[in-house]
Amino acid sequence: MTQLLPRASTLTAALAVALACAFPAAAGTPTAVVQAQTVEVQGTPLIPRPVSVQPAQGRYTVDAATAVFASGEAATVAGQFVALLGDTTPLRLAGPKASGSGRASGIAFRLVPATAGASAEAYSLQIGPRGIVVEATDERGLFYGAMSLWQLLAGQQAAAVSLPAMRVDDAPRFSWRGFMLDSARHFQSVEQIKTLLDAMATHKLNTFHWHLTDDQGWRMEIKRYPKLTEVGGCRAPAGEAGRKPDGTPNLYCGYYTQEQIRDVVAYAAARHITVVPEIDVPGHAQAAVAAYPEHGVVDEPTEPSHNWGVNPYLFNPGEQTLEFLENILAEVIELFPGPYVHIGGDEAVKYQWQASPAVQAYIRELGLKDEEALQSHMLKRLERFLESHDRKLIGWDEIIEGGLPPQATVMSWRGIEGGIEAATHGHDVVMAPSHTLYLDFLQTNLPEEPPGRPKFTSMQKIYAFDPVPAQLDPAQRKHVLGVQANIWTEHTRTFERLQHNVFPRMAALAEIAWTPLERKSYDDFLARLPAQLQRYRALGIAYGQTALSVAMKRQDDRAGGKVTVELSNPLSYRDIRYTTDGSTPTAQSASYGAALTLPVPTELKAMTFVDGKPLADAPNRWTFDAASLLTRTDKTLAQCPQGGRLLLRLEDDTPLDGPRDSFDVSIFNPCWLWEDAQLQGIASVKVRAGRIPYNFGLLREEEARRGWRRPVARYGEFEVRAGCEGRVLASVPLPRQPGADGFIELEAPLRKGPETITDLCLTFSGDTRPQMWVLDQVTLRPAD
Ligand code: ACM
Repeated sequence: MTQLLPRASTLTAALAVALACAFPAAAGTPTAVVQAQTVEVQGTPLIPRPVSVQPAQGRYTVDAATAVFASGEAATVAGQFVALLGDTTPLRLAGPKASGSGRASGIAFRLVPATAGASAEAYSLQIGPRGIVVEATDERGLFYGAMSLWQLLAGQQAAAVSLPAMRVDDAPRFSWRGFMLDSARHFQSVEQIKTLLDAMATHKLNTFHWHLTDDQGWRMEIKRYPKLTEVGGCRAPAGEAGRKPDGTPNLYCGYYTQEQIRDVVAYAAARHITVVPEIDVPGHAQAAVAAYPEHGVVDEPTEPSHNWGVNPYLFNPGEQTLEFLENILAEVIELFPGPYVHIGGDEAVKYQWQASPAVQAYIRELGLKDEEALQSHMLKRLERFLESHDRKLIGWDEIIEGGLPPQATVMSWRGIEGGIEAATHGHDVVMAPSHTLYLDFLQTNLPEEPPGRPKFTSMQKIYAFDPVPAQLDPAQRKHVLGVQANIWTEHTRTFERLQHNVFPRMAALAEIAWTPLERKSYDDFLARLPAQLQRYRALGIAYGQTALSVAMKRQDDRAGGKVTVELSNPLSYRDIRYTTDGSTPTAQSASYGAALTLPVPTELKAMTFVDGKPLADAPNRWTFDAASLLTRTDKTLAQCPQGGRLLLRLEDDTPLDGPRDSFDVSIFNPCWLWEDAQLQGIASVKVRAGRIPYNFGLLREEEARRGWRRPVARYGEFEVRAGCEGRVLASVPLPRQPGADGFIELEAPLRKGPETITDLCLTFSGDTRPQMWVLDQVTLRPAD
């Protein structure tokens, strides 16, 4: 699509403004007003919630004069604490000094002798009227104690913070507390990755899974094979985004040098985070095959893909390619000292192997059953290589299918079933089910969410997840190493958007990964979350606002000239305040209790409050006027069920830089549904539509399920039906191309019929790939 004109509700612009308002200062600069007087912390608003908190008598105030004591290895942690506190709050403490008599007032960090059976990640935090002591048997535990103390202080922005006396005893539930970043589909700078690592550390997460290779890009420098990044590191995006105005390719490129990778690994290690690199084998290999076609299967050259989804390019299973992969892994092992290497294994559709006489002959030569067994053969060989270098193989749950490598750990993403099966057979597992822990699934069903997968995974859904399935017996449960959330970045083009998707949901991830099951409480979590948001501001993190805002559901009564509105907060906070006089809601504004029936026109503004303070940075605002009763957008329409499964919120391909518009569209059987449309007095249906790239790799069976309504006119038509499969109520031919602004506006007269209130299904017929029509806005037009 070409340049967009402004339209009634420009989502991306609104979001950009909201984010700019939330974060006017540079990242890393605290934005809150510094309190001059001492601020008292109430309770223990730690996230993740600790194992045990025992309140005690008295308080202790931390201010610029507070001394910090530590010696030996404890001084490293104490220094990190002082530096982080100084960077993120007004509390600039000196030190640390070597421990004195132990009686001086201040904050002491101490390593103490290990007790049998204690976790190396355990710590205690004691706050008393004479000072604070953080103790652990290992630097890791001491670091988490420091993070807890930092959390208590950084939830405030004051020059003096008074903490209630307490004793916290804490240790993690799981040893794998993971977060995966896809740097292949879209690329993040080293500085941005460090911001994420800082955030992970403050959430007590300890495993950073770095998805470095995929069809759309190879992002890791391999000295022996420079074309992996020279060729595999660049792709031409789909549609107009792939060409500059002068017609030259507008390549999307990026990779990490080995020096940068060492820097990231060291930065993570200093925060007790292990980096798990992923080299995806045998599928998701198109960028690598583009660089080294001899290690692919088909003869024709290819290039890094601009299609999302499942692409067909596989590595060659032969000996030379296994050596190529081992040589790559040798460099990976040099750079990443952690015990695990992730070897992918997901979504490797076997079409190329099936179609290749050479691969088929190889399967027979090896005496293998089929292509799944061949994949298993490759992965077992790579496992042997990793083991000979003291490394362990982990892979996505598809690695079960042809027979698991003997020592493999399974990352369960297609639900938890793969994890259950692997644990049942004595393999370690990490739970990362897509339906709950994929952060490219939107966090609310609000129109303001950025592009992604609109099957949303709310904070509540993440919070409710228990990584240990009930059906496992105690011995099998021990194989559940932990839990991980994954951010895939097909639709996450910018770091602002990435932060929106990751935060604040990382808080719920932290709690399911760390907190004992019996200490989990969503209501208690909600009470602690506002302090966490203050910490995000202190860290310069542009957390998402949508879940903190107000969701609105409307029922129109056009004949009566009114609208009935239900308000809610997506996280289930209950104090919603609203105004209808144009003013910004305050804690004293009208309290929302039950559905509001409002006359038209009305301007409604609403905000969520916690303890008298607004949760989001700006109010939600809706204008209910005569026009709004007759208009819907792609994001306020439902979908017909047969299309709902692959609903996506996709962004436009232009402009090349800056915000772009986005559209909800199912890539199978697209049909936007206006439920209970009131057709009395309506003469026609007017649509504003545009075209965006259709850039998806699909499985063959999915392709076959994909329905296009057969066109009648040359370029197809815009059609309005009564219900998803009902009779055609209106139809108007489509032009060959949209207009210069990327949009068309068409008006279809409504055929007379018995319907007065019906669901309207809005579709475009014809197959316009590699583009597709998307609905932007639809309006019912009354007879004059
Ligand atoms: C995956 O989401 N393909 C692991």
